[in-house]
Amino acid sequence: MTKIGILLGSLRKESFSRKIASNVAALFPEGYEAEFVEIGKLALYNQDFDDENNVPEEYISFRNKMKEIDAVLFVTPEYNRSVPAVLKNALDVGSRPYGASVWNGKPSAIISQSPGNLSGFGANHHLRQSLVFLNMPLVQQPEAYIGNVVGLLDEKGKIKDERTVQFLQTFVDAFVDLIRKHQA
Ligand code: FNR
Repeated sequence: MTKIGILLGSLRKESFSRKIASNVAALFPEGYEAEFVEIGKLALYNQDFDDENNVPEEYISFRNKMKEIDAVLFVTPEYNRSVPAVLKNALDVGSRPYGASVWNGKPSAIISQSPGNLSGFGANHHLRQSLVFLNMPLVQQPEAYIGNVVGLLDEKGKIKDERTVQFLQTFVDAFVDLIRKHQA
């Protein structure tokens, strides 16, 4: 079983990112299991925790969890044209202590979303910048920018627009191809 960890850039109960991610999780083929990895309780990264061997319990369980995960799907809104702090914090926590990054070599993919037309482009690309540094192979094409999210979902959180579902299937297929290449 290949494990996909889903990390969200939103803590909101009714988050569009979470709802879109749930739709996307259902598009993986047999042999893949997608699960949300919660990052909202991670304290802001402070290097002293690692340097003084005083590591918070949530850091330990998050880092251990990520070690079991084979590939990472990021689904995020854009905050002030960049990556929401909660998601950047999770990247920072997972990247340390130095030399023990949980991200190294893990295939990844990004979906950004927004109620507007720009579709979280700024967050998507700032996140890419970090993932390149963290040595995470990343789906390049298709890029996934989901705009105008208000009205995209029905009352059960299901994506109503069939073309968007088809597009997301193409995106998941590209992600699965990337994962297979890295498992070979
Ligand atoms: C936003 N929003 C936003 N949208 C956008 O397209 N570009 C932006 O720079 C910002 N900036 C921003 C900052 C902050 C602090 C908030 C709270 C919101 C709006 C944002 O895209 C919208 O609320 C998303 O729907 C939030 O995603 P979730 O929480 O539904 O997953």
